[in-house]
Amino acid sequence: MTSSLNPELKRPDVNETDLYPIVNTSLRQRYDRIAACWNSTAYEGTRRDDLIEELISIGQVEDHQMVLEAMCGTGILARGIRQRFPRVQMYVLDFSRGMLNMIPEGMVKVQASVIAMPFPDQVFHRVFLRSGIYDLPKRLQLKALYEMKRILTEKGVLILQTYYTTPTTKEALNNIVNIKDLASGQYEDMGREYPRYFALREELEAWLEETGFVVEPIRTFEGVIRYLKTQEMMKLGKELWMEYMNDLPQQIKEEIKLRSESDGNLTYNFPGIIYRLTPLHS
Ligand SMILES: C[S@@+](CC[C@H](N)C(=O)[O-])C[C@H]1O[C@@H](n2cnc3c(N)ncnc32)[C@H](O)[C@@H]1O
Repeated sequence: MTSSLNPELKRPDVNETDLYPIVNTSLRQRYDRIAACWNSTAYEGTRRDDLIEELISIGQVEDHQMVLEAMCGTGILARGIRQRFPRVQMYVLDFSRGMLNMIPEGMVKVQASVIAMPFPDQVFHRVFLRSGIYDLPKRLQLKALYEMKRILTEKGVLILQTYYTTPTTKEALNNIVNIKDLASGQYEDMGREYPRYFALREELEAWLEETGFVVEPIRTFEGVIRYLKTQEMMKLGKELWMEYMNDLPQQIKEEIKLRSESDGNLTYNFPGIIYRLTPLHS
């Protein structure tokens, strides 16, 4: 196709997926809304604060280092780092102002998207990212990984804690989260893929290698998800979500350990993993 102004000038080919947003505004608003509850017991099975000691230890943090917690939420991990190492230069980054407002003073708070962080190249000795990379659609996760590698020093370390799917659970686990988002009015169309995307472990590790990290899986764990307890869904949304959960094939129910608890919660487990990632030098 040619331009009507200059017939010689070729129009660039625009891929229709390029036209989708790069910031999930509905999700950002959701985090603003739930910021004051994020530290509550409703989300403790997702956060898994019991792993924080281990994250800090495998990160081999030292005083005077430049340390970033990306997608920090209320900065629980950053606070843990600062308690143990009072002289680190602690930065916390999140796109939700509500979340950043929950963080005590004494750290540098940055409101930005993890796919375009306002930092120069190679400035951070350590970057931590806990429970967050899956909040991006598939096409942006690789971009976020490149961005984190860009800001790490040559000998820097990225500690990544995340949830992943298996070939059997991939569709169901992605649907459970995205139907919940739809049911609570926090879903935004980010393109052909899920707005929030939980990759297969193999897929995630292929991206980490493509980004240029030496990939060291440290340990797996299980998140315990209790959406009903979070009270994010209204009545009709809750019914639609419950219907989806109850209709899941038995094999999936067993793999995600779907169960009703005595307090009325419909709980399931999500497989998680912690990686220690160091930039590969050619
Ligand atoms: C599941 S919460 C986890 C918070 C924290 N890492 C923790 O484990 O307690 C995900 C966080 O990522 C933030 N987030 C989501 N998408 C983001 C993006 N594109 N850029 C920056 N922050 C984002 C949300 O605002 C939220 O605070």
